[in-house]
This record gives sequence, structure tokens and C-alpha cells, in this order.
Amino acid sequence: MSSLGVSFTDPALETRVRAGVEQVEVQLAAAVDSPEKFVAEAAAHLLSAGGKRFRPLLVMLSAEFGEAEHPDVVRSAVVVELTHLATLYHDDVMDEADKRRGAPSANARWDNSIAILVGDYLFAQASDLVSDLGPEAVRIQARTFSRLVRGQIRETLGPDAGDDALAHYLSVVADKTGSLIATAARFGAKMAGVPLDVQETLTEFGERIGAAFQLSDDIIDVASETGDSGKTPGTDLREGVPTLPTLIALRSTDPESERLRSLLGRPLTDDAELDEALGLLRVHPAMTEARSYVQAEADAANALLAKLPEQPAREALQALCDTVATRLG
Ligand code: IPE
Ligand code: IPE
Ligand code: MG
Ligand code: MG
Repeated sequence: MSSLGVSFTDPALETRVRAGVEQVEVQLAAAVDSPEKFVAEAAAHLLSAGGKRFRPLLVMLSAEFGEAEHPDVVRSAVVVELTHLATLYHDDVMDEADKRRGAPSANARWDNSIAILVGDYLFAQASDLVSDLGPEAVRIQARTFSRLVRGQIRETLGPDAGDDALAHYLSVVADKTGSLIATAARFGAKMAGVPLDVQETLTEFGERIGAAFQLSDDIIDVASETGDSGKTPGTDLREGVPTLPTLIALRSTDPESERLRSLLGRPLTDDAELDEALGLLRVHPAMTEARSYVQAEADAANALLAKLPEQPAREALQALCDTVATRLG
């Protein structure tokens, strides 16, 4: 169903989740509309370009532990996906990315100001929708976005002198990505009236699988040669944005990796240098180590699921862990 290719072993579950995600699509299209033709076009640009809809899927699966068909479930998935979409407009400005979801990024197609303002518009639309879900949902959304933004700011600032770069980065990942994916799980569970202890387990799961999801994205930036991800590979390296494989490679001390280390940790604006760094990193043991790290994180997320009641949605979440660890786009 989504391009994440989650396997459903239960057809009734698959039918419900599909129906939910289809409703999310309809409401998303309505939410990005605007009386101004240009705003509507620019806001629909990345929405219609594609995307895996990972967060709405997690909302739907988490809702399965309660009243899955409660209308607030779909509404909350729309809020989460719109928030995510807004951050993509902003993130591509920060990262000077030229491609997103296989299409030109908004900053490349228009300019930075438009990308920033459209991101703000999408966030405003998400805030409007979340207000229908009550004050507690508004607070969760506000705190999630605050945490996400602080993660993005801390990534931009980098670690303080004396801080461990990898530990700093892992905490950034939790904030910039784990936060919203945890909220996807929390909202799905909460809107479906799932018992509190199950809500907590699902939120913890979202946080953990969310971090693994970001770390696998870091690996894809290096490993994908074809642009399967819909983004330009090597964007993190070109911008000098730290990621799991580069930080692991920078920790190595062997003389053979010296050239790679000298290229990493700074922006690589020269195409020849970028290609060289990508070539060296792709075959470096840091990639294997990064992959094992992600697998271990996905396994840790999977282990949390043991606390959940046994039902088809739990199986689908278990399958999701492996998909996240091994995905290529
Ligand atoms: C991209 O998120 C940003 C990250 C947190 C890695 P997704 O990989 O979910 O992007 P889309 O929605 O599928 O485009
Ligand atoms: C993902 O940023 C986190 C947010 C958008 C909040 P990245 O810069 O790591 O993700 P991609 O690779 O551009 O999707
Ligand atoms: Mg980016
Ligand atoms: Mg970024």
C-alpha cells in the first residue's frame, strides 16, 4: 500500500488501514487548498509529488488497539502529515536541497521565501485542524513541533566544545524526527481511546522506530545511487550535515581512512570531492556499522511491541520494524 511496502498478513486489517489512509489523502488535499491560486498550487506541490505516508500509517496501526474507525483518528493523521510536510518545505531550505519526492523542492522551483512561507501556511493549516481535536491534542502538537524545531536548531549549531559528536547527533535525531513519529503513534492510540498503558507503549515505540527511520534515511543518502529516495543522494555530505555513517567514519583511526576523514565534517561544494567522498564512504566499514546500529534500534523498537495485546496490528508493526531497518528509499 505505501511505498514502504509493509506486509499485511491480515486482509481485514489491510482493508481498514487502506480505507483510513485514503480518507487521509482526501482531507490532506482539502487542507492544502487556498482561495489564492498560487498558495494552493505551491502547497499542493509536494503533497501531490508523492511521499511514503509513513506517519499516517503509524497513526492507523496504533488506532487498531482501540476504536480504529473513530473519525478523529483520520483527522489526527492529517495533522501529523501536514506538520511533516511543513517541515519538509523548511528543511529543504536549510539543506539547500534541490529535489524532494522526485520533484524539484519548493526552494528550487520557486525560492527560499516561498518555501518558508508555504511551510508556515501548512503549519497553520495543521494547527487549525488540531484545534478540532481538543486542547490536549493542541498541546501535544505544539510541544512536538517545539521539540522538532529545537532538534533542527541543534543540528544546525552542532555539538558544544567537548561534547561527543555522535551522542549529540543521536539526540538531534530523537528530537527532529523521533518526536513527530512518536506523536503519530500517540495520536492514533489516543483518538481511538486506547488504554493509557498501551498508548504509552505505542508512543515509546514511535519514538524508537522514528529514530531508526531517520538513521536509515542517513544511510540512504550515502548508499542510494539512483535517487530511489526521490532526493539527490549525497545532499547531507555536500552540506556537511553530520549523519550516522559519517560520524562513525570520523571516529575511525586507521591510516587508510585518512583521506575520507579529511573530506568529511565540512561542506563539499566541489563535485569531484563529493563524488570521491561518496565513493570512499560507500565501501567503508562505517556503512556496515551504521546498518547494524539501525538494525539494533529497529530490534529494540520491535521488542517494545511484546507489551502490546496480540493482534494483527501488532504483527504489522513488527513487520514495519524490519522494513525500516532495510529500506532503500
Ligand atoms: C523525510 O521523511 C524526513 C525524515 C524524517 C527522514 P520521509 O522519509 O517520511 O519523507 P516522505 O514523507 O516519504 O517524503
Ligand atoms: C529530516 O531532515 C527532519 C525534518 C525534516 C524535521 P533531514 O534533512 O535529515 O531529512 P531529508 O533527508 O532531507 O529528508
Ligand atoms: Mg534535508
Ligand atoms: Mg535537514
